[in-house]
Amino acid sequence: MITRRKMLAGMAASGAIIASGLASRSDWGSRSALARRSQPAPLKIPPLLKGRLENGVRVYDLTLTRGVSEFYPGVKTPTLGVNGPYLGPTLDFRNGERVQLNVKNNIGESTTLHWHGLHLPAIADGGPHQVIQRGATWRPSFRVKQQAGLFWYHPHLLHKTGLHAYLGMAGGIRVRDPQTDDLPLPKTYGVDDIPVILQDKRFNRNGGLIYSRNMHDSMNGMKGDVLLVNGGFAPIFTATTTKVRLRLLNGSNARTYNLGFSDNRSFDIIAGDGSLLPRPVKARRVVIAPGERVEIVVAINKSGPADLVTFPYRTVNPGRGSGMMGRMMSMMSDDNRRFEVLRIQPGKTLTPSPELPPKLLDLPRLDPAMAVKTRRFRLDMLMGPMAMMRGGSNFTINGKEMDMRRIDARVKLGTTEIWEISNASPMMHPFHIHDIQFQILTRNGRPPAPHELGLKDTVTVAGGETVRVIAKFEDYADPINPYMFHCHILEHEDGGMMGQFVVVA
Ligand code: C2O
Ligand code: CU
Ligand code: CU
Repeated sequence: MITRRKMLAGMAASGAIIASGLASRSDWGSRSALARRSQPAPLKIPPLLKGRLENGVRVYDLTLTRGVSEFYPGVKTPTLGVNGPYLGPTLDFRNGERVQLNVKNNIGESTTLHWHGLHLPAIADGGPHQVIQRGATWRPSFRVKQQAGLFWYHPHLLHKTGLHAYLGMAGGIRVRDPQTDDLPLPKTYGVDDIPVILQDKRFNRNGGLIYSRNMHDSMNGMKGDVLLVNGGFAPIFTATTTKVRLRLLNGSNARTYNLGFSDNRSFDIIAGDGSLLPRPVKARRVVIAPGERVEIVVAINKSGPADLVTFPYRTVNPGRGSGMMGRMMSMMSDDNRRFEVLRIQPGKTLTPSPELPPKLLDLPRLDPAMAVKTRRFRLDMLMGPMAMMRGGSNFTINGKEMDMRRIDARVKLGTTEIWEISNASPMMHPFHIHDIQFQILTRNGRPPAPHELGLKDTVTVAGGETVRVIAKFEDYADPINPYMFHCHILEHEDGGMMGQFVVVA
């Protein structure tokens, strides 16, 4: 008799094989940790929650729940979710509409729910100050003021963001906008417009999720050895159209993915975090760091499946930190694991999709001359022996750890600012700013790549790099309630690499 314990141990061992090579076309999924399943699992599509209209306000009911998920057949894994045991529905928002979210906290402990990427009053942001006590219901309401795009929600409780997010309490927010709704892009949810949420996990032998706090995992962030895609392993999506739009969301705590297709086919990148790109950008690879979103359109034909997989990604700049230390860090931290992400297989018939439009969005560049201020943020972390002496890693911005009682920046309402983020550590940090969508001005003095020309709320800053972004801080002032800025590696955020700003009239 094979016990569950043995089975999981076996799966964990076979998981190591993923790292050594890609599956061939015929054995998709067989090398994943779920090798035992008899049928390859179809991609789960989170339900689209359209809300209900009440006096002109679109109302959504969300219940944060503790649940049990079955990732491995017959094995029960305790998880957190929204309106279900794991992950949550995709919220369907329209630009200009007023929304209200009724967030009931049933997880048995305090948490928060943050609307990542949305421009809204600080009190509605769901950051560490908007704690929802156990059993309570929080009812933020605001007008949607966004470009069309994929945003998301996740918990944000101080020192608990990593754990709560890791257990699964997250979901997508699709914003539509009449300005761009008519573009000939794939846009039928679940048919040719597909949310793809990437989260790496580590399971213990009883099927529980491991959230480790050891030195290595706090320094690198919590990374897993298996990849969940919308809550499934190496799932399969059956296409019914000749083009499929993937709305990729990196909902992982710490891992960055360098994505591409196993046959090296090219695809079009059409959107970044907070908007469409000015025009589609052809690529064979795209990097997505924690917190970021990227939308791609891939052509599907009858000749075979399109297999989305990960390629090595260098998290550490080995030039930073003294030679040996740099190489060691690189070995320990780089995101080199090969995952099977998603197989898109052609269905019996493929309905022709329209050609992509040459232009997507008219996005005027913000002029640096408009900026009234340049603020500098220096990201740093103590590592190795230094961190050990201090009893753990130490994560700072401008030399300071996050303090709920300290406001780090006061921005004047209606002004444009340049934020210059430099990374003094060897490890890449995805830097995220609440409230605004920014444009990248320069990366180490050079203009951003074409696929980074859209609106962004999270930007990778590699070891030794300096990235300058520009944004206008509009609409909402509140001298009391701050917005956050932080590294989106959640263990770095929880470890102190976060600060607060207020917007004042
Ligand atoms: Cu996605 Cu402050 O978070
Ligand atoms: Cu955010
Ligand atoms: Cu970081």
